[in-house]
Amino acid sequence: MNLLSIDDLDREAIERITDHAARFAEVSDREIKKVPTLRGRMVLNLFYEASTRTRGSFELAAKRLSADVVNFAADGSSVEKGESLKDTVLTLNANKPDAIVVRAPWVGTAELVSGWTDAAVINAGDGKHEHPTQALLDVYTLKRRLGKLDGLGIWIVGDVAHSRVARSNIVAFQRMGAHVTVCGPPTLIPRGIEALGCDVRFTLDEVAGADVVYALRMQHERMADAPVPSLREYAACYQINERRLTARQILMHPGPVNRGVELSGGIVDSPQALITAQVQAGLVVRMAVLYTLLSGPRAQAPLPEPQLA
Ligand code: NCD
Repeated sequence: MNLLSIDDLDREAIERITDHAARFAEVSDREIKKVPTLRGRMVLNLFYEASTRTRGSFELAAKRLSADVVNFAADGSSVEKGESLKDTVLTLNANKPDAIVVRAPWVGTAELVSGWTDAAVINAGDGKHEHPTQALLDVYTLKRRLGKLDGLGIWIVGDVAHSRVARSNIVAFQRMGAHVTVCGPPTLIPRGIEALGCDVRFTLDEVAGADVVYALRMQHERMADAPVPSLREYAACYQINERRLTARQILMHPGPVNRGVELSGGIVDSPQALITAQVQAGLVVRMAVLYTLLSGPRAQAPLPEPQLA
């Protein structure tokens, strides 16, 4: 079983993962934060692209479940000597990992990798395509805060065109009953995105109607040419700041934040921002994903029992 796209999961499967994550959150509050659930299993982190949150939380998630972890970063590896993705995967696969977590700048990488291994493959971001575990942790974060997503109005604001987070989150939020609007300059909103079921706005004029504002980073690393005249001009029209966010609204961002561009510095640290909660959710949701994929129907390892206080 793999997790390549959020489309692999129906609403029930998403609910199951977020329910498991809640159980693991309870474990994370204990003095001993480790459970033996995946003892003897091996998780390989294969990262061809920068990552702080995703790689760190997958590593910690695997360790909290007692799995062995091997971290591979393209820097300092034989990739620098010209080894291809396929040869790299086949080499690392020789040690029989049970799961491969892969991030790469190329669309479709995780799917390709899944053709070369029997391990469960988890897409931790493939170019501008998908980032399903980000979508799951964002659903989990909102469920924890608000109970459910049904009926929520969620605005995703910024560089939608280059955002794998946007692509996975539009699908996941809607599957959980929310109504999604994407907003940004026309050059950063992909043509035809309405086909995913969301609305499109090119100004923030109606953002006050949103329950949740989800801001995105300008993904310069994926831009061939400049889609906006300047970051200052972008910020003037689309920055989420104290003036634009009303007190009842919730603010989210996948990180890393460019303070002063998509978000004002102050709003990042405001109590309305769930950014830290999103990072915390990353750990327990990734534990739940590893648990779901690796303890499969054949050998369903027991979930940790809730501990009586
Ligand atoms: C995102 C990513 O890499 O897709 N970061 C993350 O995983 N939290 C978003 C981004 O880089 O802007």
